[in-house]
Amino acid sequence: MISAFERVMKPSWLCVDVSRVLHLAAVFCLTCVLLKAIQLYHRRQELLKAFVKFPGHPTHWLFGHVHEFLKEEEILDKSEVWAQKYLYAHPHWFGSFMAVLVVSDPDYAKTLFARGDPKDNVSYKHLVPWIGNGLLVLHGPKWHHHRKLLTPGFHYDILKPYVALMAESTNVMLDKWEQLITDGRPVELFEHVSLMTLDSIMKCAFSCHSNCQTNRQNSYIQAVYDLCFMVHQRLRIFPYHNDVIYWLSPHGYWFRKACQLAHQHTDKVIQERKESLKDEQEFEKIQKKRHLDFLDILLCAKDENGAGLSDEDLRAEVDTFMFEGHDTTASGISWLLYCLASHPEHQQRCREEIQGILGDRETLRWEDLGKMTYTTMCIKESLRLYPPVPGVSRQLSKPITFHDGRTLPEGTTVAISIYLIHRNPSVWKDPLELYRAAVCHE
Ligand code: HEM
Repeated sequence: MISAFERVMKPSWLCVDVSRVLHLAAVFCLTCVLLKAIQLYHRRQELLKAFVKFPGHPTHWLFGHVHEFLKEEEILDKSEVWAQKYLYAHPHWFGSFMAVLVVSDPDYAKTLFARGDPKDNVSYKHLVPWIGNGLLVLHGPKWHHHRKLLTPGFHYDILKPYVALMAESTNVMLDKWEQLITDGRPVELFEHVSLMTLDSIMKCAFSCHSNCQTNRQNSYIQAVYDLCFMVHQRLRIFPYHNDVIYWLSPHGYWFRKACQLAHQHTDKVIQERKESLKDEQEFEKIQKKRHLDFLDILLCAKDENGAGLSDEDLRAEVDTFMFEGHDTTASGISWLLYCLASHPEHQQRCREEIQGILGDRETLRWEDLGKMTYTTMCIKESLRLYPPVPGVSRQLSKPITFHDGRTLPEGTTVAISIYLIHRNPSVWKDPLELYRAAVCHE
């Protein structure tokens, strides 16, 4: 029995029937679940309708094709088998409600690239917390604005001094290898190559001589290295595609920490350079003393109204180049070394060609690059078979019709597989015959 005191003191909201509140909450939750289920059902029907003319590998009712790609080392081989069975393009289902059309035919790719559809917002989204909205992620008018401002950064005169910087970094790597091979044991090259390309991009982009190849103590270098690893890791582990799961995981925590560290460093470098460039005389002095690096170009870039990039955009472009500029080249160089090691006869021809160009000199110059015709063919052949970026994707901004009459509606995500196109048997008689194309072009 409630005492008179309790009756007076008890707040009125406590008098509301608890079971009624619970009942309302349950109805609310059920309605939400029902609405979501209807939405997902419609999404699935839309996807099934969009891909009706594109047969593909049978799907699991819940996982789609995800369970087929659990072993990382099997992903590309399996995709190749499917591409040979389902010509031109076939769907890949990620669960029951998300699917992309994987394109493996060059004419399909031409039709797509001719349109300028935006990049899809799934593939690159894991990079955004680190590299921000730089060229790689952007599309539309902001992409055009940044691309125009960055054009001077790719002028031959800017790139020329980079050759000596890269040769310097490569020599450091080769010296390390000479030490490592003395006991005759195999050496895993990728990490060394990766540190070498990171060292090179640091010099070219920031004029920063980090010595990261010999001294791994630099916290920024370690952060960039870890971030690259964690971005790949997140792509591989399917539950990590969900932001909440990732942010709550230990890996998500370390990713945020590394982002913070990398941003602090980039911001500091930008601020310091801004200060030194403020003074006109200082700017001229810098030009006389050293070549202009990528950061100078970014800071000096102005559009027709005299406006440059904001601090946030500057940081995004610097971080984008830091990522794109070292991870891709490290992978490309490592695969080239693998190809040359597997084909000693072509390795020998490249060696002879380069020795002929060098003569008595020890390092390459800018003018030498155009003379390395056989080596260039081998590099291109290796990039064909082992492209460092195996695919890019786009989200259709309007419906599309391909050359064989098949169509896709607006909003569909299309993944253009660079890997599969370059191994397409209708283009190359024997796609795996390494260097055949290089030798035929002689
Ligand atoms: C073997 C080396 C490389 C490969 C295979 C490669 C591959 C690619 C591919 C396929 C794209 C297109 C992405 C898309 O459209 O979705 C791209 C874009 C880009 N890459 Fe590279 N890349 C390489 C080296 C580099 C280097 C050295 C840098 C910078 C120093 C760089 C900076 C960029 C940037 C800024 C973009 C975005 C371009 C834009 O959308 O305008 N890449 N790269």
